[in-house]
Amino acid sequence: MSAFVADPRLAGRKVKRIAFTEEQIAARVRALGQEVAAAYPDGNLLVLGLLKGSFIFVSDLVRQVPRPLQVDFLVVSSYGNEMVSSGHVRLVYDPQASLQGLHILLVEDIVDSGRTLSLVIEVLQERQPASIEVCALLDKHHATHLTHAPRFVGFDAPNEFLVGYGLDHAENFRHLPYIASLE
Ligand code: IMP
Ligand code: MG
Repeated sequence: MSAFVADPRLAGRKVKRIAFTEEQIAARVRALGQEVAAAYPDGNLLVLGLLKGSFIFVSDLVRQVPRPLQVDFLVVSSYGNEMVSSGHVRLVYDPQASLQGLHILLVEDIVDSGRTLSLVIEVLQERQPASIEVCALLDKHHATHLTHAPRFVGFDAPNEFLVGYGLDHAENFRHLPYIASLE
């Protein structure tokens, strides 16, 4: 732990606790890649990462999935400032025009209330994909708003605010190779 306290990536902040080490994450992502491949014996698979939080997870995950696939990303914006209260979601960056007949694997960094995911799934479903499943690196398990429980979960998340491996606090700390809570 003391090695991380001096981590120059932290801009003077201190790690309270390492929730998942780089090695734990790598091992879990390798296993998830096998799970994903096994779940899609055939068909065309499109891995859709929700930006920005999923960017590191997606890039590690797809390299561990031994089957053909395509990768794209979604950028989601709310109408108004508050995504959570507005209840509306807009795709700022649109993935390939037609999703018809594709198996969509939506990749999210962390599921908290599940509101973001539910709204995105609603929008995507209008495009008639063959299926939509969710792969979340972390699940806080208080997703009362979730219509689609994640089919693939990396880790159960502790009830703390986490940063690293794509997760941010005010856009910082996404580049930590581990997942931690801060003092
Ligand atoms: P939800 O719509 O409430 O499920 O919120 C999910 C989004 O909130 C995630 O994609 C993250 O961007 C953010 N989030 C939730 N919990 C955390 C956390 O512990 N650390 C960093 N971001 C979080
Ligand atoms: Mg996010």
